[in-house]
Amino acid sequence: MNILFMGPPGAGKGTQAERIVSEFGIPHISTGDAFRLAKSQATPLGLEAQKYMDQGLLVPDDITIGIVRDRLMQPDCEQGFLLDGFPRTTAQAEALDEIMESMGRKLDHVIDLQVDRNLLLARLTGRRICKSCGATYHVMFNPPQAEGTCDKCGGELYQRADDNEEKVGTRLDEYTNKTAPLLDYYRAKGILRQVDGEQEIDSVTANIHSLLRGNA
Ligand code: AP5
Ligand code: ZN
Repeated sequence: MNILFMGPPGAGKGTQAERIVSEFGIPHISTGDAFRLAKSQATPLGLEAQKYMDQGLLVPDDITIGIVRDRLMQPDCEQGFLLDGFPRTTAQAEALDEIMESMGRKLDHVIDLQVDRNLLLARLTGRRICKSCGATYHVMFNPPQAEGTCDKCGGELYQRADDNEEKVGTRLDEYTNKTAPLLDYYRAKGILRQVDGEQEIDSVTANIHSLLRGNA
């Protein structure tokens, strides 16, 4: 199954993706995670991406499309994949169509997680992430058992550099101007499914499951 997760920053794409990929046994491909990894390793790609990410801006299309193209060619994507945070512009969506067509494949589901802008700000500024395993928490909505420590692996939790009020504002504007128009692109293809992302994390997962299993 080839799945795409859309939705504004903080909608819960990463949280839900972790759960869905473990159930369906497909790789989770997050362009944001790929850029953060490259940044932490100080590769030329990471240093270039950092210039944009640190301002809350989108990384240029040519860089982003190249990464996704290479990743989708890997053998572990043959049985399907979950793309999280890509595409984010019309050029990226068109490039993805070309990549899929060249591989003789198609997107099965585009899941759009819907959350009000005010709630997104609270979610992002309270988010904490495990340095070791990448698990995501929230200081109020999904707290770890011991403050600052990952429940799953005992790793240390940190706050992302772009999760402050100013950067979140820029990221939300980038989403509204460049990414939200893609919803119509996928609606026209008849594969867009919208999910209320404001419910409890478990309820959102249950709704996504129903859609993917064809029970909704
Ligand atoms: P990226 O890493 O993709 O960030 P994003 O889209 O801003 O999304 P987030 O990871 O912030 O949010 P999420 O929806 O995954 O929410 P989460 O599950 O963590 O991109 C970062 C940057 O990289 C971009 O700004 C850009 O510079 C660059 N980039 C990436 N892809 C690109 C592309 N294609 N083109 C160009 N540039 C690109 O949840 C958020 C919080 O809420 C967590 O604390 C969580 O615990 C909590 N939460 C989740 N669900 C619920 C719920 N149902 N109830 C209560 N709390 C919840
Ligand atoms: Zn961990």
